[in-house]
Amino acid sequence: MNFELTALPVVDLSSDIEVIIVVDKDTKHRFVQDKKLLKKAGFEANQDETCLLVSKNRLYVGAESLASTAIRTAAAAAVKVLKGTQYKSIKVATYTNKGCTYTLRAMIEGFILGAYSFETYKSKKKKNPLKHITVSLEEYSKLDIDIEKASEMIHKAQITADATNFTRDIVNTTPDDCYPEVMASIAESMAEDTGLACKVLKPKELRKEKMETLLAVARASRHAPRVIHLTHKPKNAKCVVTLVGKGLTYDSGGLSLKPADFMVTMKADKSGGSAVIGVMKAIAELDLPVEVHGFVGAVENMIGGDAYKPDDVLVAKNGKTIEVRNTDAEGRLVLADTLCYAQQEVKSDYLFDLATLTGACVVGVGNYTSGIMGNSDALKSFVVKEAKNAGELATALDFNPYLKKTIKSEIADICNVSNTRYGGAITAGQFLSEFIDKDHKDKWAHIDIAGPAFVEHAWGENPHGASGAGVRMMVKFIEKLATEDSHK
Ligand code: BES
Ligand code: ZN
Ligand code: ZN
Repeated sequence: MNFELTALPVVDLSSDIEVIIVVDKDTKHRFVQDKKLLKKAGFEANQDETCLLVSKNRLYVGAESLASTAIRTAAAAAVKVLKGTQYKSIKVATYTNKGCTYTLRAMIEGFILGAYSFETYKSKKKKNPLKHITVSLEEYSKLDIDIEKASEMIHKAQITADATNFTRDIVNTTPDDCYPEVMASIAESMAEDTGLACKVLKPKELRKEKMETLLAVARASRHAPRVIHLTHKPKNAKCVVTLVGKGLTYDSGGLSLKPADFMVTMKADKSGGSAVIGVMKAIAELDLPVEVHGFVGAVENMIGGDAYKPDDVLVAKNGKTIEVRNTDAEGRLVLADTLCYAQQEVKSDYLFDLATLTGACVVGVGNYTSGIMGNSDALKSFVVKEAKNAGELATALDFNPYLKKTIKSEIADICNVSNTRYGGAITAGQFLSEFIDKDHKDKWAHIDIAGPAFVEHAWGENPHGASGAGVRMMVKFIEKLATEDSHK
């Protein structure tokens, strides 16, 4: 999809169809030329409600306000309607919240994110004829918008949304087509295209690095594990950010096998790692003045005679011993070693891990929201704020010393599961905390994306399946660091 920005008013533009966003049900606005027809069609301009007037070549969509979130999902809803049609080009005005062009960025993101569909496994692929969107600088509230600022926003929206769709593609790919080796080659070819550095560790190097817990999880799979390290190192870097992703290309649960219904969708257990690859792509393309490292622990958790077992005691890279009581709590084992490796390789100002870590997080906060955990309240709030600014839902979940006691082990330093059913998202976060060095304690946040990463229905600007959760949130966070003067 390509975008063109013009100073000409919308009426002077030619296109197959015009998209009009009806804000706050204001059908008296000058953009709404078909008030009577819309009334006849029963269009109420509720958020994301659409009305296609074929004979007028106009598509109306409701948005409850000029807030970015409302405009983003409205744009996505509009473009979804056009998916099954033959319209090739759209014209649209500029919508800003009191002149803030972030709303324009959100609209463009909405168009790209809403147009996404995953057709790889369909024998008859639906073509999306929509190719061209012309954006007029004619502003909803008649404000003057700087053309350079607007064009920069469109550029940023394209990079962020394309990276999100790139992540969606990786996550939606089946486990037989995307296993650790494939994930590494996806990262390598992306790095080659964008100029990032990429290092891939194979089992021999992983053994040398003493990543025995990661290797134990990987043992029963016919697909050997990989640890991926992507680097964006600009000369003018303001600070250093490290991202670590859980890349379970499949999670069968291992010997603590998942029930059939819970195993379906576990191809999406690589969402954290896929998000890290997507964020790195965006950061490279935006060429942000921040040094960013992306690590992915890519592993498949399977069963077999060689599988690691409940009752095993594993030694993590930092020397801590872990009693395994459930092989389905594998993500934290893979992350433990990958986090240790990442901290050994890079001293960062911010350290995040992204993971579909627990079903408990989904139970606690629902399908659409990520849980943000860590030792620093300030950092948790910072992440929640930037997630919301980026159009993602996130909420802080607080650690407490009572839950911490539930992951004690009688025979090892720590147990990989808690002794209580309750608070599972938090105890998983507290487990990870054991693998964070003193220097990184307050610089680290754990982001549990188990809910939003993969949802089996469309929601907002997200399609059925992979959403690319974490990508926009982290890109926005790093963009914020790039504009700040002091953050250390
Ligand atoms: N990958 C799952 C978590 C998950 C569940 C992600 C649902 C997305 C949707 C993780 O490895 C897991 O199985 N966790 C267990 C932990 C338990 C054994 C302590 C869980 O959440 O049940
Ligand atoms: Zn699991
Ligand atoms: Zn898992």
